[in-house]
Amino acid sequence: MSVKVKKVGILTSGGDGPGMNAAVRSVVRCSLHYGLEVAGIMRGYQGLLEEDIVPMNHRSVSNIINRGGTILKTARSREFATDEGKTRAVEVLHKHRMDALIVIGGDGSYIGANKLYEQWGFPTIGLPGTIDNDINGTDQTIGCSTAINTALESIDKIRDTAQSMERIFVVEVMGNQSGYIAMQVALAAGAEDVIIPERSFDYEAMHEAIVMGNAKGKISWIIIVAEGVAKAQVVAENITNATGLETRYVVLGHVQRGGTPSGQDRILSTRLGVAAVDLLVNGIFGKAVGLLQDEINVIDLKDATRRAPGHMEEYYKLLKILT
Ligand code: F6P
Repeated sequence: MSVKVKKVGILTSGGDGPGMNAAVRSVVRCSLHYGLEVAGIMRGYQGLLEEDIVPMNHRSVSNIINRGGTILKTARSREFATDEGKTRAVEVLHKHRMDALIVIGGDGSYIGANKLYEQWGFPTIGLPGTIDNDINGTDQTIGCSTAINTALESIDKIRDTAQSMERIFVVEVMGNQSGYIAMQVALAAGAEDVIIPERSFDYEAMHEAIVMGNAKGKISWIIIVAEGVAKAQVVAENITNATGLETRYVVLGHVQRGGTPSGQDRILSTRLGVAAVDLLVNGIFGKAVGLLQDEINVIDLKDATRRAPGHMEEYYKLLKILT
């Protein structure tokens, strides 16, 4: 595909994640640096269909590098998922003279971006924006580092009350079908156990370990559950039934998606935003940018599908040695 990009559209799509604003800033300012025009598309693909489009200049992205959420807003669009939706999306892109589209989102958003490129012939580039860290071609996705820190802040506080009231706490964290956030926070919070979709879990063994630990004087436990594998409430009720010990549960939920992006997320976003614009300027499309071993990594959008996190058995072993 040979296209000289003069105007680029940018949108954020799917679940927001801290650092998306830093990515928007990076794309906008880098595009302007190269003399491109930039259109901000509000509310993801849905806003594109509804022509909710605003011109972006240098000042449009002032004072956002440190802000969570996304100034472009985001949505999950059912309409765009249809063929008619994509046809309409491309019509709108042409109508507004956009030559290329940068999509910041998760694997669902990437599927849309790839279809626009492969089947509708429209130039697209993807940036991995999701707290779940579940996309091929990058070690980290935008928002994941902050989400882990946010979850940890809460779990540290839960530990205070768990200790004081001699209770067991089951804490459910986000991640969709991925246990990445759960395993990371379990290790970093010093949790006693973690239940994730990627490994089978022996509930009876956990109940026995709790009873034995309690008999030796252990008074509190923190158990992390990934939302994709079980409900914290059910796990907590089963523990109480099996052990007779007082158990509470906490679902951290959407707090994990908000807040000031970590330094790591801001830098990741900034680097990936520039890398995405570099591709467009060089006439390279249909790609997803990521960071692998601290180097910019570019793969075909069609290969940037959902991936399972690595090293889960290794991490679990560590967790068990250390508790
Ligand atoms: O993909 C990001 C994510 O936060 C997942 O961890 C979670 O399962 C999902 O989005 C929640 O989506 P929603 O905000 O639409 O409820």
